[in-house]
Amino acid sequence: MIEHPRRWQKPKIWILAAGLFCGTIGPLFAQEPAPKSDPSGSKPSASQEAPAKKKARPKARRRVRRDEAPGFYMGRPIADVMSWQGAEWLFRETRVQEEQPEAMLDALKIPRGGTVADVGAGAGYHSIRMARRVGPKGIVYAADVQPEMLRMLRDNARMAGVSNIKTIRCTQDDTALPEGALDLILMVDVYHECSDPEAILKGFLQALKPGGRLVLVEFRGEDPEVPIKPEHKMTLAQVRREVEPQGFAFKESLEFLPWQHVIIFEKPAPRPDGAAGAASATKPTRP
Ligand SMILES: C[S@@+](CC[C@H](N)C(=O)[O-])C[C@H]1O[C@@H](n2cnc3c(N)ncnc32)[C@H](O)[C@@H]1O
Repeated sequence: MIEHPRRWQKPKIWILAAGLFCGTIGPLFAQEPAPKSDPSGSKPSASQEAPAKKKARPKARRRVRRDEAPGFYMGRPIADVMSWQGAEWLFRETRVQEEQPEAMLDALKIPRGGTVADVGAGAGYHSIRMARRVGPKGIVYAADVQPEMLRMLRDNARMAGVSNIKTIRCTQDDTALPEGALDLILMVDVYHECSDPEAILKGFLQALKPGGRLVLVEFRGEDPEVPIKPEHKMTLAQVRREVEPQGFAFKESLEFLPWQHVIIFEKPAPRPDGAAGAASATKPTRP
């Protein structure tokens, strides 16, 4: 197994060693600085972030969008964006057993000819599989905040012989997806990295067709045996607490993967009286 230097949970005995490692060699792995308008780079420190927010956002809005502690959202830490320099980890041999990507996509019943998006696509691990499933008449929008990831994704798609992927450079507060066009949006191991969850969920609502699905695949925060750092996991309850108030209806959480939730939401169809559709909650199920 290729161990990513940042994401895997290490035994406590290594904490001191890891601290020394981060202080000396760690900076070599740091992300390239991102442009100011694109906060995809290393997270700013608390002292950098707080004054900017005070200036930019009115008081009431700030209370709704953010916890008082910088780097937190609704009580959980927002994880750092995984650097493109670790992209090899996304294609580790063991990933097929650990995450069963084909079984996960089977369960989603992606429509042939459909218009779908892989957001936080990385180097295209799922985009390429989705492109094969929608077929030549379908389209996959593969979006990521890191242009380097998108460059690797285009190379990988070319090598895989798929030509129905459109790459999109998005930002942390602009999904840059076409409006009202999508049947499905997939995010695998990404949502917990989003520094502005409300902005991206608003963008997703605009981009989906009525009845379109938003699927968040996240490592189970409820399970201490899942060998991923806590800030890279999410509980189902936390995901629902964050997503439903933004206008999505919870449909189900598929729990057949070894380590991950597959959490499915829907953009409600408008009701005949013109009001937004009501959320219809169902219990977690196994397919
Ligand atoms: C852990 S990687 C997962 C990549 C891919 N989904 C996979 O499973 O192979 C997380 C990716 O999400 C991207 N990302 C983080 N926040 C994002 C956001 N708000 N919008 C789009 N991409 C984002 C990162 O740049 C990174 O490529």
